[in-house]
Amino acid sequence: MITFQAETGVFHLQAGDTSYAGIVTPQGHLSHLYWGKQVTGQYLHKLVHLVERCSFSPWNDRNHLFYSLDTLPQEYPAYGNGDFRTPAYQIQLDNGTTVTHFRYKSHRIIEGKQKLEGLPAVYIEAEDKAQSIIFTLEDELIDTELELMYTVYPKHNAITRSARFINNGANAIVLQRAFSMSLDFHHHNFELLHLSGSWARERHIHRRKLEPGMQTVESRRGSSSHNHNPFIALLEPHATEDNGQVYGVNLIYSGNFKAGVEVDHYAQARTFIGINDFDFNWRLEQGESFQTPEAILIYSDEGLGGMSRKFHKLLRERVVRGEHRDKARPILVNNWEGTYFDFNEQKLLEIADEANKLGIELFVLDDGWFGERNDDKSSLGDWFINKKKLPNGLEALVSKVNDKGLKFGLWFEPEMISPKSKLYEAHPDWCLHVPNRERTVGRSQLILDLSRKEVQQYIIDTISNVLSSAPIAYVKWDMNRNMTEIGSPALPANRQRETAHRYMLGLYHVLETMTSKFPHILFESCSGGGGRFDSGMLYYMPQTWTSDNSDAISRLKIQYGTSIVYPVSTMGAHVSAVPNHQVHRITPLETRGNVALSGNFGYELDLSKFTASEKKIAKNQIELYKTIRPLIQFGDFYRLLSPFEGNDAAWMFVSENKKEAVVMYISVLQEPNAPIGRFQLKGLDPAFIYDVEVEGDAIGEFGGDQLLYAGLQKPHLHGDFQSKVIRLIAKS
Ligand code: DGJ
Repeated sequence: MITFQAETGVFHLQAGDTSYAGIVTPQGHLSHLYWGKQVTGQYLHKLVHLVERCSFSPWNDRNHLFYSLDTLPQEYPAYGNGDFRTPAYQIQLDNGTTVTHFRYKSHRIIEGKQKLEGLPAVYIEAEDKAQSIIFTLEDELIDTELELMYTVYPKHNAITRSARFINNGANAIVLQRAFSMSLDFHHHNFELLHLSGSWARERHIHRRKLEPGMQTVESRRGSSSHNHNPFIALLEPHATEDNGQVYGVNLIYSGNFKAGVEVDHYAQARTFIGINDFDFNWRLEQGESFQTPEAILIYSDEGLGGMSRKFHKLLRERVVRGEHRDKARPILVNNWEGTYFDFNEQKLLEIADEANKLGIELFVLDDGWFGERNDDKSSLGDWFINKKKLPNGLEALVSKVNDKGLKFGLWFEPEMISPKSKLYEAHPDWCLHVPNRERTVGRSQLILDLSRKEVQQYIIDTISNVLSSAPIAYVKWDMNRNMTEIGSPALPANRQRETAHRYMLGLYHVLETMTSKFPHILFESCSGGGGRFDSGMLYYMPQTWTSDNSDAISRLKIQYGTSIVYPVSTMGAHVSAVPNHQVHRITPLETRGNVALSGNFGYELDLSKFTASEKKIAKNQIELYKTIRPLIQFGDFYRLLSPFEGNDAAWMFVSENKKEAVVMYISVLQEPNAPIGRFQLKGLDPAFIYDVEVEGDAIGEFGGDQLLYAGLQKPHLHGDFQSKVIRLIAKS
């Protein structure tokens, strides 16, 4: 709940076990006081600590010589009038200068929250007791207001923040930076954790000590990217997976972002996240406003694991929307790695036939079904069936697949245009480009200019036509290149640097329209695997294809790293053929299954090539998944052994009532005369007695306390890349 003490100016946000506090100073600035474990609000004003500094930290208030913006912990700092650290925003006025000074004007506390127009955000439902405090600050000289919105979600122990600029003045202003949040910790004794990598190697965990100066992660690629995820966490140096204080910040946005920490000359740490200010401007004419995306703030005193579980619950319940949110996600087979572009109706039906026999629930037709698409060099934008490949048409194919007892899903890459396409012949100016410059292609394709209304409408109309033409139950929404020559002929010269963000707003509009028009369809987002695995996409599409790397051993790090923020129910994970197509590794089908069973399960290979014994193994995997699916997709997730730290990995899923659990244990390389070891389980009830079963073989009863504190013997495995599934069921 939120309180504001009129006498002191202290505001106190309580979100479950978390407190966040600040103060409106007598000079009208918003100063940060505290973020961490819940405290009583009574004495928070005593956290204000003003100290005299040398004249290199300037001040402007002759009555308070200790008051300098350079030392004051702040909530949304400016640059130009005393604070030399990185600002949360910057505005250029029409006289060319960039100095502004916003001071407190008013605040209001409301039930619920104000809508973030056109942007994905945490939403609330009737039973939630969410509250917001909205501060209005004003720079009188330019007649511009700044609204800072803070919302608390007590049930989810979470806080969100965002900012909105409103120009009421007669002159235009230009935002050169507008982050979503900024706050100052009074020390920098932290380690910074971020998720970084590359295509096919996404979201690996990186952790390092904070040093004086700036440390940032960012994307300039026009999407959140494979390279850095819009998330950072600050950890106490001794914080572990299970203990210690952790502060996580995640941006609900899918485009260019910047997140970072600046350690200043007084050893304080300024943390921020928002739209990347690189190549960004936003012009506000009189009466116009700009809304930043929303940032999620999660505090945990139960280590990284505690932070992750809070993110998981919030993203699963209050970011993911629609009828599939709480539904079991189907087991699918996708033909991509099975056939690539080389398929016809008969081949697809052969795969569907096998899929049906194995118990698979959804058949997904990937790239290559439209235009004249026989490789990746043409036809994006021409969303009509490729009659040469599928002469009977889409409806006939869908109905034959449905007759085999499977639902049907279809791949699109709606944001793209191939120079070799009918669409490009008709509209060569519909792609992102700048006048008289070469258009750089990536995977032989250009990007449609989604900042334009007519382009958005084209996508909505053409994709809707296909989706209305047959009973399609699932859509894979792909996006396979990053932006170059970011410019739009539809925008005037002084708005060109708005293009990348306008693209995102256009994309969000298209996704909002499509998902509301087709509420029964399950949408899965994809960007060459996990190039846009972010909370913005999850608001529209409940799941994401985690990585184009389907190798079980590579996936250990990718899925483990992804789970730092994102819930298991959002991660697509498929069994593929060996040698693996990305890394050429040969791993046992059982292990490929166990790793994929730890996400939204599926197969991505030509099932008709499975031998009889492989079919038997796959059938068992599918049966097992159907039994444990609620636990995997909606249970609490605990990381046990990190693949970043050793030769094995393990994690587990625990039901809410703690009566059921599943542990996945994977050993990477066989070690001669290997160390003997145990590993401790997590999340169980110490008072329960559990029946433990390893791959169907009962190994007896164990006390919950014993499993938690003494641990379980590591399975004794022979050979490389071996794994085991361990099931625990509490005795009633
Ligand atoms: C990239 C995706 O990540 C793959 O799964 C596949 O859909 C291809 N695109 C198809 O072009």
